[in-house]
Amino acid sequence: MSQFSEFLLTSQPRARWMRFDTAQLLKRFFFCERSLLSSQAAWIPAIAPLEIKIGLARFIWQGAETADALRNRVFELRFPSRLLEEQGADHALIELFSGIKDSPSVPAFLLSIGKVLLPALRDSFQAYLEASDSIADGPTHRFLSLALSEKAEQIGAFEKWGESALTGNPELRDGALAWTQAVAKRLSDVGGVGVGPSSSASSGGPLPGAKTYAVPGKPARDSRFWPCRFYWPDVDDPAYPYGEGMQLQLRSAISHLNEVWAIENGGLMLSAFADVLPWEWIHNSARWTYDESRHCQMGYERLMAWQLNPAEIPLGTYIYESASGEDPIYRLGMLYFFETKNIRHKPARAQLFHAYGDTVSEHDMDFDWADETMHAGYGKHWLKELLAVRGQDPAAYDQVRERCEQLVRHCVNTATPEEVADIKKVAAGLLAKAARR
Ligand SMILES: [Fe+2]
Ligand SMILES: [Fe+2]
Repeated sequence: MSQFSEFLLTSQPRARWMRFDTAQLLKRFFFCERSLLSSQAAWIPAIAPLEIKIGLARFIWQGAETADALRNRVFELRFPSRLLEEQGADHALIELFSGIKDSPSVPAFLLSIGKVLLPALRDSFQAYLEASDSIADGPTHRFLSLALSEKAEQIGAFEKWGESALTGNPELRDGALAWTQAVAKRLSDVGGVGVGPSSSASSGGPLPGAKTYAVPGKPARDSRFWPCRFYWPDVDDPAYPYGEGMQLQLRSAISHLNEVWAIENGGLMLSAFADVLPWEWIHNSARWTYDESRHCQMGYERLMAWQLNPAEIPLGTYIYESASGEDPIYRLGMLYFFETKNIRHKPARAQLFHAYGDTVSEHDMDFDWADETMHAGYGKHWLKELLAVRGQDPAAYDQVRERCEQLVRHCVNTATPEEVADIKKVAAGLLAKAARR
């Protein structure tokens, strides 16, 4: 105790940040995560490799879970809730995180996130955990430590994806590297993420080399698979049976793999309504997108375990394309339409797989059913919310669903005789191959 003071004073590093300072930093992290995941979601359709689409969906979900925990923590710290709706002094920083949506190419997008933005978040989380008080701020320590370990995994994946995108597109290398440098420079100009006070830097406008984001009319597809629009004969031929036995096992796995459209629609709708609907929308649609990526991966894993060749497995685009050029409410409507249309078949199919002794298909279908039940609830809720926000009648959500059914029918009606014949040939080949296993 000091002889010179009439009070008990010690200098303890754990008192470095007061409650309000802590909330300011967590709010900054929240907005960074929110902007980053929204940009990532928008890019899912533009990136071809299935592994990246599935990985992005998982990282978006991780980001949304972290952001949700941050947001709740900021509320717990009695931060004025109206201020949590605004970026405040971190405006320039958040604008940079959102600006990544306008990346000029796939490698530029992957590299700037993997080499600049994610490492900046990782370092800031690390610095926060070191400098904050694990007693007073214990609840933050738990979820931010998890977020830190997830950042390390995300960085590893993005670096790998970025390198492979460059190898596949050497002509894009210079532009991607210049973009990554521009992002790094802007990050430094706006004071970084860090754990310091907010910078007063102004936003600086669009990044050099930026290309305004546009929703792809057609989704990029992994070239390992057999490319098509309609991925099974029953899509454009109602007389073609869904099948039983091995045909059902195969059809179900093909369906699951082709839920790639649902990952893409999930990402697009998340991003399209991120600034229109409340935070809970992003949180729900991130989970939804991740769930669809797990369904897609389930199908992929089953097909690979049956030792089928990806080049003979159809990967279609028609559901995605049915909503292209339309109001993005139909991306959401399309998910709602397909979930509510198919959900009633799932328990019966799981039982059939059980009877066949195909425990993997049974297992996947059963988990899928639980997810879809949740999604049907999301779909109805958010369609109604979106209509209400637009000043329309929330009860009209069923009309959105009906319009989706029409859009799909329109698209199916454009199937050419060649497409119909080709998919029959591919399906027959796959069935014959499966029968020989
Ligand atoms: Fe699904
Ligand atoms: Fe779903």
